[in-house]
Amino acid sequence: MRRVAVLFTIDNQIRYDIVRKIFEGGMGIVYEAEQRGAQEFVKRVAIKVVRQNFASQPQFIENFVGEAKLVADLIHTNIVQTYHLGEYAGSFFIAMELIRGVNLEQFCTQMKDKRRVLPIEIAVFIASRVARGLAYAHSKTDKFGRPLGIVHRDVSFKNIMIAFEGDVKLTDFGIAKARGFLTDNEGEVVAGKADFMSPEQADFQITDKRSDIFSLGVVLGTLVLGYNIFKDVTPEKSRQRIISMPVPDFRTLDKRVDDRLNQILQRALARKLATRYPDADELLYELEHYIYHSGYGPTNETLGKLMRSLFGVRQGPVGEGSARGGTKVLEHTARVATKTESSAQRTATAAKTGSTTRRSGATARSASKKSA
Ligand SMILES: Nc1ncnc2c1ncn2[C@@H]1O[C@H](COP(=O)(O)OP(=O)(O)O)[C@@H](O)[C@H]1O
Ligand SMILES: [Mg+2]
Repeated sequence: MRRVAVLFTIDNQIRYDIVRKIFEGGMGIVYEAEQRGAQEFVKRVAIKVVRQNFASQPQFIENFVGEAKLVADLIHTNIVQTYHLGEYAGSFFIAMELIRGVNLEQFCTQMKDKRRVLPIEIAVFIASRVARGLAYAHSKTDKFGRPLGIVHRDVSFKNIMIAFEGDVKLTDFGIAKARGFLTDNEGEVVAGKADFMSPEQADFQITDKRSDIFSLGVVLGTLVLGYNIFKDVTPEKSRQRIISMPVPDFRTLDKRVDDRLNQILQRALARKLATRYPDADELLYELEHYIYHSGYGPTNETLGKLMRSLFGVRQGPVGEGSARGGTKVLEHTARVATKTESSAQRTATAAKTGSTTRRSGATARSASKKSA
């Protein structure tokens, strides 16, 4: 990354009018907002606000902020882009790209409600787009070319979105790491989503990018079968299944699964790290080969058509207008991204990186193959 001298600084106010609650999670709330600019300029964005009870946990906030900085430069079509980290009412919020669409959980629920079965090729296409986003994030380096060691750690149905246009986007990046520091009322560490964890995560070991590959394997298996083979009645039981349940032959569970797809699933879900795909690039290649080797395969357009037929063609986002009565306004002073800030931010990112790499135990080996 280049270091650029500042030509001049623009210091102004950004105002966000909160128009709708999109999702209320355990840790934060995601809203749809209108970012206001000069001359009635309006841009729709998503705003994620940290819940008040977590805002007072310094370790959590430190990680939330650190990770927001870490992902600031992740710019890829298969990753929800972060625009801004701001402060409001004694806490922090992240402004990000608004996805007009649904998460995979909502997508699959809708498929079931409409009594439709997801074609195998589209399941593989969705997983391939996530693999593409992961390959990019995993190989991201700092300005000195050192791998940042980014691991998502929470690749799961709720963190993957499909836009009505057919784009697949991975969200909640990096927050997953902060989640490891979250404590509930009893002071117990709140774990990620047990059903999608890698065995090493479930066993509280140090993880690297291959952990995300296992989780993506669970995502693919779940998309194909319509249920998660590891899901049990409690998170603890699911965790045990992740650690010890023999991975079944997917061909016996669904006749549509052929040898090749079963091999891909087995390799993504290998408990032994030496057997698992070493990186997302290789998984991406095999997924793409699977859907495209015989000629035409699914595209964003194919998926977009399916999305629109499932949810109906919409101009605006789902449920628009439902919370319009209670518009809230977030206002804060912020500098519009100047070149100085970018480089300062990058320095912060680089500083963060060192600790991230150590904490995550990421391999020092360069992952800088192609950036998808
Ligand atoms: N940028 C976005 N645009 C639209 N909806 C989003 C966006 N980010 C998240 N969501 C919705 O909010 C839900 C929770 O977001 P997430 O960032 O995963 O928060 P949490 O920390 O609560 O898991 C997602 O499953 C998705 O449905
Ligand atoms: Mg999430």
